[in-house]
Amino acid sequence: MEIAITSQNFKDHAADILGLFVREGESEQEDFKGKDLETFLSYSTDYKTKRVLFVGLGKEKIDLEKIRRAAFLVANKAKELKALKVAVRVPKLDYSMEQISAAIVDGAVLGNYKFDKYITDAERKSVKIEKLTLVFDELQPNTVKASMDREKIICDNANMIKELVNENAFVKKPDILAITMEKIAKESGVSCKIMDEKELERLGMNLILAVNRGSRHPARLVVLEYNGDPKSSEKVALVGKGITFDSGGLNIKDTGHMETMKQDMAGAATVLGIIVTAAKLGIRKNLVGVSPLTENMPGDNAQKPGDVIKSYSGITVEVANTDAEGRLVLGDAIAYAVKNYKPAMLIDLATLTGAITVALGDYAAGAMGNDNELIKRLSEAGERTGERVWQLPIFQESRDDIKSEIADIKNLGFRTTLGYGGSIAGAVFLEKFVGDTKWIHLDIANTAFMERERYYLRKGATGFGVRLLIDFLSK
Ligand code: BES
Ligand code: ZN
Ligand code: ZN
Repeated sequence: MEIAITSQNFKDHAADILGLFVREGESEQEDFKGKDLETFLSYSTDYKTKRVLFVGLGKEKIDLEKIRRAAFLVANKAKELKALKVAVRVPKLDYSMEQISAAIVDGAVLGNYKFDKYITDAERKSVKIEKLTLVFDELQPNTVKASMDREKIICDNANMIKELVNENAFVKKPDILAITMEKIAKESGVSCKIMDEKELERLGMNLILAVNRGSRHPARLVVLEYNGDPKSSEKVALVGKGITFDSGGLNIKDTGHMETMKQDMAGAATVLGIIVTAAKLGIRKNLVGVSPLTENMPGDNAQKPGDVIKSYSGITVEVANTDAEGRLVLGDAIAYAVKNYKPAMLIDLATLTGAITVALGDYAAGAMGNDNELIKRLSEAGERTGERVWQLPIFQESRDDIKSEIADIKNLGFRTTLGYGGSIAGAVFLEKFVGDTKWIHLDIANTAFMERERYYLRKGATGFGVRLLIDFLSK
């Protein structure tokens, strides 16, 4: 999608569809009041673009998220009508024009994506918008177009990540996914090192290998590096869960819980998306991404409940449940990042627990960690981007609950399989591998993959975390 900017009277601008945002009570149309995200399609010869979609902004709380959604409604109607040149008149609100324009780009570009590569019926395939023009009443400084271009890059990368997450598990087995990630990384100058199963054995990454044992496809560890601030030695580590399919292993998942488990590599994909975007934008940060990739399968050599594994860090782990595999692979990946890169801060992204959906629905990702100030800053980035983050507490009792009688720790807490603070149990397990590094654990099991459509978030993969972390790292 090409994006452009013009300052001309919106009535004189020619496109296939024009989006006009209207506050409640300011509508001149009889049957359209301008209520919250109410829409009204009209055809008028008064305008150069005769097809006009009016979108209501309501009265109160006209924030950037509402603008994203309003822009999505225009983009979605355009796709429906195969109106491929889209114009939006930019409204004046209590935000800078840079912010408002970026929000419109968000809604349109994210909403332009649909996972339809396997639909063969041409009629059902969604058309892609070709051009988005933002129409301003007044001439704008260059910073406005710059902000739009920047946002476009971020959203394009979020869409690329969605495509990886939506892809069949059988076309993203660890070796293939690793090569795909490498290709994407190198295209934007991010260095990538792939460790194969022999290397993982040599290093003693036994938690990753234990999870991998039930699968016929060997594991990989993908290490990405981007040095945007070569004068500094400070690094931020991003660790992403990359389970290319989570069957549960021998503690196999029930029908109803397994169907969407191709999404379980969303953390790894998001880490790639963040680092590649940072490189394209030239963000002044040194980033290292560490993502373990493996299936979790119940093959005849699979790890078994009751096994004790010695991790890369030396901590021994009782595998109490093979379906709590994310924390196992992340334990080794986090320890590897901490030991080899000594990052100033580490953020892990993982579709870790079903329990996070019990706690937060699909409304906000769960954040836990050892630095409340950092979590607060991430939450603020969440408010700005609409990729919301909500902090959950870590109490001493939950640390006590992962003690094992036969090993140092186990991968379950008290009644974790029944819910019981399940997301926190995941966090206190990871905490053991973090040492004294500043750390945030982001549980995205509820936000990486939507079970329903909500405005510019289509059903399926959402790309959650790319816009959030780019905002966080840019500040
Ligand atoms: N990958 C799942 C978590 C998940 C659930 C992700 C739903 C996305 C949507 C994770 O590996 C898992 O199976 N967690 C278990 C943990 C339990 C065995 C302690 C869960 O949430 O049930
Ligand atoms: Zn699992
Ligand atoms: Zn999993």
